[in-house]
Formats: sequence, structure tokens, C-alpha cells
Amino acid sequence: MKPEKRHVLLLWMLLCCGRSGAIEPISTSIAVGMAAALTGFLASYQNIFYYFHECCRPEWIAFNKSGLHADLELKLFGQHIASRIVLKAVSGFMSNNNPKKPLVLSLHGWTGTGKNLMSKLIAENIYKEGMDSSFVHVFTSELHFPHAQQIETYKSELQRWIKGNITNCAQSMFIFDEMDKMHPGLIDSIKPYLDYYDKLDGVSYRKAIFIFLSNAGGIDIIETALEFWRDGRQREEIQLKDLETSLSLSVFNNKQSGLWHTSLIDKNLVDFFVPFLPLEYKHVVLCAMAEMKAKGTEPDQSVADQVAKDLVYFPKTERVFSVKGCKTVESKLDYYT
Ligand SMILES: *[C@@H]1O[C@H](CO)[C@@H](O)[C@H](O)[C@H]1NC(C)=O
Ligand SMILES: *[C@@H]1O[C@H](CO)[C@@H](O)[C@H](O)[C@H]1NC(C)=O
Repeated sequence: MKPEKRHVLLLWMLLCCGRSGAIEPISTSIAVGMAAALTGFLASYQNIFYYFHECCRPEWIAFNKSGLHADLELKLFGQHIASRIVLKAVSGFMSNNNPKKPLVLSLHGWTGTGKNLMSKLIAENIYKEGMDSSFVHVFTSELHFPHAQQIETYKSELQRWIKGNITNCAQSMFIFDEMDKMHPGLIDSIKPYLDYYDKLDGVSYRKAIFIFLSNAGGIDIIETALEFWRDGRQREEIQLKDLETSLSLSVFNNKQSGLWHTSLIDKNLVDFFVPFLPLEYKHVVLCAMAEMKAKGTEPDQSVADQVAKDLVYFPKTERVFSVKGCKTVESKLDYYT
């Protein structure tokens, strides 16, 4: 590394990420000495550093409401209820300078309906670096916490991570994928962070965002959507209240979907339940068109139709909803283009 370059790096560490665990400052005394010597220099150049390196600052973390609104319209299909709830929830939270607790969203629905995409869109409209931001953390039970015997280790690890990352940056985001497969003990261990505490051990968690993704309640959401379809009613007529009963019955009382809900619900730790409807043929076509556009190729309606036709739909007789939603669209496109 060239000396100038090393200086730049060191300055950056001192300046914006001095509290970050990601890169350990060489030694505190050197750091302090350097900092003192270079204060003047830093003052004039700090904006340049902020500009180039992701920091826990408004330059890198700022909510774009119109951006999220546009993304929900253009990239997420068939989810009028989820879009509305999330836009409102996130806008409200991000415009509140003094939230009483972290924002906790629980996204429910069948596979491929857009839960992951939704968390991505939220991240992209808060963090300049989107999902690549060092302030966005994704946990998957099978990847991060695979062995039930090691639950005690995972618990303390997860608590340490959440605490460490929020100490670095209050506006951190934590996404828990496959919440249904998460060990209930693990959920218990993060409960304190979701609650109305001013501070825990001197750390305030109230500016963080937690997003839980699960299939729980997915079947009941499908039943409701199917009822509407069979009655000849518009999908857009489905309202949150039509799903709330089925959600609460299945999600909260169904042993299969895990006990995690009950304990989170009991204490009102989840702020919003966000249902995702099963996707129809026309939505799969839209997914394929959007995917082509995202890849920089000219969207081709006939290819999109071909992809949509290839997927399997249910129930067997009516074939209304895609079994895997839009999940396999990307790989199918690779095949056709
Ligand atoms: C917010 O998003 C809109 C739409 O994507 C974009 O045009 C605009 O530049 C964004 N604003 C900021 C401040 O990034
Ligand atoms: C932040 O979370 C990540 C996991 O996403 C973990 O590897 C890292 O050690 C955490 N950082 C701190 C400072 O705890």
C-alpha cells in the first residue's frame, strides 16, 4: 500500500468509522496522536471521506419516500396491501426523530410472493448501499443458526451482534429470513431489543428496523384470495381486515408455525403484520418483464408469456395462483434468452 493511501485509510477509520468493529484501529494511542496532529487537515477534508466511504451518517442513510413509493409500484407486483402498509409504516418511522421503540415488521406469505424483494426495496431506499450496506444484516436460520444443540452459543452471539452493530450505528437494519425455522429460544433472546426501552446497558435500540420473513399464515392468505377469486371479486378489493382473522387464527395458534409469534404478539412487539397475496399468471408475466428490464435487455412480452406458462399453478382445477410465485422466473429467463 502506498503511504498516501495508508494515510487516507487511517483518516477514514478515525473519522467516520472509528467506533466500527469492522476495521480495528491500529492502536488507540497512535490513533489519538494522529487525530490530534491532523485535526485541521481532517476538518477540511472530512466531507470527501464521508463521500467515499460508507458511514453512519445522513449522506449514506436517508429515507427516500418517493423512491420507495415508485419502487413498490414498478417492481413489486400484486401486493396492494403489503405496499400500502410498508410505505406508511416506514415513512412514519423514518420521519419520527424520537421513536419509542424500533420498527418491527412481520412479513407473511407463500414462497415467491415478494417478501425478500420488499425488504430489499426498503433497504435500497434507506441505505445508499442498499443490501450491500454494512448497516444491513440478514440472518437465515439454516445458514447462521443450523444446529439446535448450539442454541445457547447462537443466542449470545446474536445478542452480541445486534448490540455491537447498533452501538456502531443506531440506524441499523436486521432482516430475519425463514422466521418459521428459527429456534424459539433465539427469538426470545432478541425480544428485549424490540421493546419499549429507553436504553439497555446504555445502548438505545429505538432507531433500528427489524424485519421478519415467514411463510406462516401463507395458506390462510391463499384461502382468502381464492374465496375472492371464486366469488368473482377483484383481488384489489381484498383488505387487511379480510386477512387479519385468518392471519391471527393460523399464525398465532398454529403449533406448526412456531411459538415465536405468540410471544412477540403477546407483548405487542410487532408493529405491523404485512400479508403477501399469492401471485397470478399476470403477475408472473410482470415479474418476467421487470426482470428483463433489470438485466438491461429489451422486455419481450412473448418471452414473458413463455416463462409464465412454464410455471405450475394451483388449485389443480382452476390453476389460479403460481405455486412458486415469481421465484423461478429469473432462472427460466436465463433459459429462454
Ligand atoms: C428518490 O427516489 C427517486 C425515484 O427513484 C429519485 O428520482 C430521487 O433521485 C431519489 N432522491 C434521492 C435524494 O436520492
Ligand atoms: C454485526 O453483525 C454481523 C453479522 O451480520 C457480525 O458478523 C458482526 O460481528 C457484527 N458487528 C459487531 C460490531 O458486533
